[in-house]
Amino acid sequence: MFISVVQFEPKFGEIETNFSRVLDAVKSVKSDLIVFPELCLTGYDFVSREEAMKLALEVQDLVFTELKNLAIKEKKIIVIGFPEISGDKLYNSAAILLPNPQLNNVYRKTHLFFRERFIFDEGDMGFFVIESIEPEIKIGTMICYDWRFPEASRTLALNGADLIVCPSNLVTNVWHIATPARALENKVYLAVANRIGIENRNGQELLFNGSSQIYSYNGSVLSKAHPDTEEIISAEIEPIMTRNKSFNEFNDIFADRRSQYYL
Ligand code: ACM
Repeated sequence: MFISVVQFEPKFGEIETNFSRVLDAVKSVKSDLIVFPELCLTGYDFVSREEAMKLALEVQDLVFTELKNLAIKEKKIIVIGFPEISGDKLYNSAAILLPNPQLNNVYRKTHLFFRERFIFDEGDMGFFVIESIEPEIKIGTMICYDWRFPEASRTLALNGADLIVCPSNLVTNVWHIATPARALENKVYLAVANRIGIENRNGQELLFNGSSQIYSYNGSVLSKAHPDTEEIISAEIEPIMTRNKSFNEFNDIFADRRSQYYL
């Protein structure tokens, strides 16, 4: 199967414009699974929780009905970041839309980065895996700063993920050191969908540094975007290859774990 990552520059507060970019990309990309960046329907740097509440979406919103219908029509899995309102809670979430009538799945970011703690509630779902039958793949989701916690991707891998998708709005470059290791140490594919562009709000300029990447289960780079251009990157993956965790005749990264020595 083929997967793609859509790297683009969402316009802050312009949900209609951003949504139409997303729809165009889903229609034009030929892959079975498409990953968009974190909070890409609204933009990232909210000045207050109240501002984010006004722009936030519910999973039942029309936007997701339309995306779900498109997923079914195009037979594509869509993963997309958005601010999710649920009662009086506000989460930095990603919707995972499968091309079948199954309900929409949502992951809520577990680890909040920098000023996000003043805007969002911490995710309350943990790290779970979604099984798609057609195409056949097990998908684990984490969002951006979750990368810094090896426990996140390890939990997803132990839960059976073949592929970890990571919608992101990355503003530093240190993630490049860690993300290939997250793929290698868990023997899973990893797709990091970063955005580009600058947001100048909160008296701070945030430069999102692109360079979205798709890693193979041995940590090698299958496809990489430029740091500052809108781009769609793609790769062919074989989910079944991640399910045997041995890497030579005597070692298996899951069977070899000594969990009694870990905290
Ligand atoms: C981040 O978690 N958006 C860096």
